[in-house]
This record gives sequence, C-alpha cells and structure tokens, in this order.
Amino acid sequence: KEDILRRGRLSAAKSEEINAFTSSLQADRWIFPSDIMVDKAHTAMLAKQGVIEKKDAASILKAIGEIEAEGVDSVHIEQFEDVHMAIESRLIKRVGEGVGGRMHSGRSRNDEVATCIRISARNELLGLMTDLLELRSAIVRLAEDNVDTVMPGFTHLQHAQPTTLAHHLMAHASAMDRDFERLLDAYKYVNLNPLGSAAFASTGFPLDREYTTRLLGFDRPMDNSMDGVSSRDFILTTLSAIAILETDLSRLADELVLWSTPEFGFVELDDAYASTSSIMPQKKNPDVLELVRGRCGTVIGHMVSAFTIVKGLPYSYNSDLQEVTPQLLRSFEISRSSTRILAGAVSTLKVNRDEMARKSTMGFTTATEIADTIVRATGLPFRTAHGIVGRLARGGGDPSLDDVDEASMAMIGRKLSDMGLTEEMLEEAKDPMKNVERRKILGGPAKSAIRKKLAAENARLKAD
Ligand code: ARG
Repeated sequence: KEDILRRGRLSAAKSEEINAFTSSLQADRWIFPSDIMVDKAHTAMLAKQGVIEKKDAASILKAIGEIEAEGVDSVHIEQFEDVHMAIESRLIKRVGEGVGGRMHSGRSRNDEVATCIRISARNELLGLMTDLLELRSAIVRLAEDNVDTVMPGFTHLQHAQPTTLAHHLMAHASAMDRDFERLLDAYKYVNLNPLGSAAFASTGFPLDREYTTRLLGFDRPMDNSMDGVSSRDFILTTLSAIAILETDLSRLADELVLWSTPEFGFVELDDAYASTSSIMPQKKNPDVLELVRGRCGTVIGHMVSAFTIVKGLPYSYNSDLQEVTPQLLRSFEISRSSTRILAGAVSTLKVNRDEMARKSTMGFTTATEIADTIVRATGLPFRTAHGIVGRLARGGGDPSLDDVDEASMAMIGRKLSDMGLTEEMLEEAKDPMKNVERRKILGGPAKSAIRKKLAAENARLKAD
C-alpha cells in the first residue's frame, strides 16, 4: 500500500504503535456510510460547479458506489490514518490519481469529518427517538392496565399516601416526554452543514454549499467556516440530552430493582430479563436493570469527557476533537440498547396488585386524608388537624372515632364528633382507593384525572 499523505512533507513512516495511537478506528467505522454520502455529494457539486470535469466525476461516483457496496471492511481503515484516507486511497487505486486525486479539491478532512459526524449523529438521534417512543408506549400501556391498582406512594422512601401504579408510571412517562423533546431539540443543532469550510478558511474554489446542503439533507449551511470545523457543541448538547435521558432510565430501572425485592414484592421481572447465581440456586437477579442503572454512570462519564476535551481548545481544528467522537458513539450505543431493553422489561413485567393494595395503607398513609376530612367536617385549621392526626399516628394507624376524639380532647379540649366528624367520614378517609379518587384535580391519581393524562399522552405519542 502506498501512503498518499506521506510522500511530501514527511519521510519517515509511522511505527505500528504510533499508527494505533493516532487511529480513530471505532468512530471511523461508525461514520463510513456518512463519508460515502459526503464524497458523493462533494463530487457531484464539484462537477456542477465546473471544478472537475463531468466525466471524472462520473468515474469517481461509480467507484465510490462500488466501495460502498463492498463495505467498510474492504477499505482496511486500520492500515490508514483514518477512514477518509482509506476511502480516497481505495478510490485512487481503482480509478488512478489522475481522476481519483481530484475528489478532495476544496475540501479538508476537517470539514469532512465534521460533516460525517453530523450525518451519523442525526441518524442515531432519530433511532434513539424511535427507541424512546417504544419505551414511552410500553409505560403507557402498563399504566392503562393499572388505573385502579392502588399502591403506597413514597417520599423519603417512606410510605406517604396511597396512589395508583398508573399515576406512578405516568410520572416516568412525563419525564421521558421531556427527554424526547430534548433529543428533538438537539437534532436542530446537529443538522447543520459544515462542508465547504475546508481546513477552516473555506476555499477559493467556487463551491455551491447550498447544493451539498440539499443533497445531504441538512437544514442549512454553517455560515462561518472556522466554526464549521471547530465547533462540537452539537455533540455536547446531544450528550447532555442523552445523559438526562439515561438518568431517567436509571431511576426507573432502580425502582424496578427495588420493587422486585421480597421487601416490596410489587413486581416480578420476566425470566428473560433476569439471571441467577452461580452458587445460590434460588436467586433471580434483575441484572438487566442493574446494568441499565450502571451504564448511566458510563454515559455521564462520556459527557464529562467530551466537555473536558473541548473546553480548552484554541480555534480552529485540533486533533483532540477526534477524541470527542467516540464519547458520542458509545453514548448512542448505550442509550439505545438500554432504552430498548427497558421497554421489553416494562412490557413483560408482572405486577403483584394484591401486594401493592395490601401495602397501600401500611405506615398510616391515609393520615393526610383524615386530616383533610377533619378540616372539611369541622372547619378546624389544617395545622390543628395535622397535630391531632399526628398524635393518632403514634397508635399505629387505624383509628376509630373514639381514638380521634381522645386525641382531639388532649390537643384542643373538644371532641371532633361534636364538631361534625362522623364514623362514615372517618371510614371513607381510611379507604385507600377513596383517597385516590378524591385527588382528581389536574395531575392527580384519580381515575378521571389519570384517564385524561393517558389520553393526552397517547395523542402526544402519535404526534411524536
Ligand atoms: N480522524 C480525524 C477526526 O476524527 C479526521 C480529521 C483529521 N484532520 C486532520 N487535520 N488531521 O477528527
């Protein structure tokens, strides 16, 4: 193989170790299909502008098409500095330097790689958004089946008030709606065309940048060539959006891990999403969910790596930028697989409704509703009712009207049964599903409220 870059300024070849050190193999394999597109668009544009002859362009396009068909392995990226040189070398081998050597006119690898990363990132973003739609739908379907599955809600991981599984799940769905929006927002910073920036100062060749913008499906050309090759904020935005999504995936995974313990006993994972122990024959471990949770840490690390690599770089291109691309690529791999796998785990999840219902009043979760009922029945201030019920909580959490009267006598010297509180009111306040049904304002868990939320979410899923 002849190294077409090392015939001029440089004489010594790179050692194998140095070659491996400077290589961007993994990211280069990722952008190979995009690079083929960029080569085609640039060549077609050069011919249209008369920078190269039409017949040369035709030979180049034909050869690039063949290289595309032969696939990424055929160009042996590992033997070259990067994918750009691998493809160009292969092209020149096929059609000769007299023709193939014209493709890189008015172009640098600096604008070329920036263009390639943007095309690949845009495809991955669309893929990730599709995966996320699957997960959001899986959550909504499970919520639809559990509109009246009553369960304890938690604050500080202590039993707090009764709610429903649908309400709890739709909290996650709401967060993931925003994750989707952030990815869509990132897309608009990604889908800009740097091609034509060349090394950084653009070029004296009369390139038609609007034309390559159209051919490559970008929203518009970037209007400063130095910005075109130097900026990676589109990656930082994307990685930030992915890191937040990952955080939301991790929180859901974490709850499902917790909920599948015997202490909770709320859910059971399908066997396909579990593993067992090599020593303890009885174990069913939620390892898929643990890895979703763990890889969130990896992705946050990639985001921090990318910010740290970019933050001190003088304009314009620096090779440090090559190190940013794998952070993005790996974050896409992790977030896409985690999103898909979590969707599968959610849609095959077994819900233990009896256990959820049994624990829904555990820890006196109806205390708030009893205090609210006292306010409505007696006209006492909420703070006073809160004090009386707080005193009742010392007794375990299933108070009779006599218990209430005893507590109120001690606190305010009066019996609430003399002030309008009845046995029926107290019984209703202690019923977990009636607690839920009372909370029917916008955002609440009552069936009427959650059905509205589900309808809105289904409409949103369709629109997204
Ligand atoms: N592999 C390089 C990257 O990912 C391509 C650009 C190289 N440009 C250069 N002047 N060496 O950034």
